Amino acid sequence: GEDVLRLAQRHGVDLEGACEASLACSTCHVYVSEEHLAVLPPPEEREDDMLDMAPQLQENSRLGCQII
Ligand code: FES
Repeated sequence: GEDVLRLAQRHGVDLEGACEASLACSTCHVYVSEEHLAVLPPPEEREDDMLDMAPQLQENSRLGCQII
């Protein structure tokens, strides 16, 4: 399937993916609703490391390019 970043971009959502999903940026940072968070596999370590650098990090923060 398509990741959230591509999906968003395809639908005109202003979400940036500076590193093109290579886990080298946090510009694809998104907040995920509670119900969706519950069914997502947890982030892997590399995603977590990048998320730590995202501004305004929240409990429900994820990187859009890693959500499929
Ligand atoms: Fe860079 Fe998602 S686009 S980590």
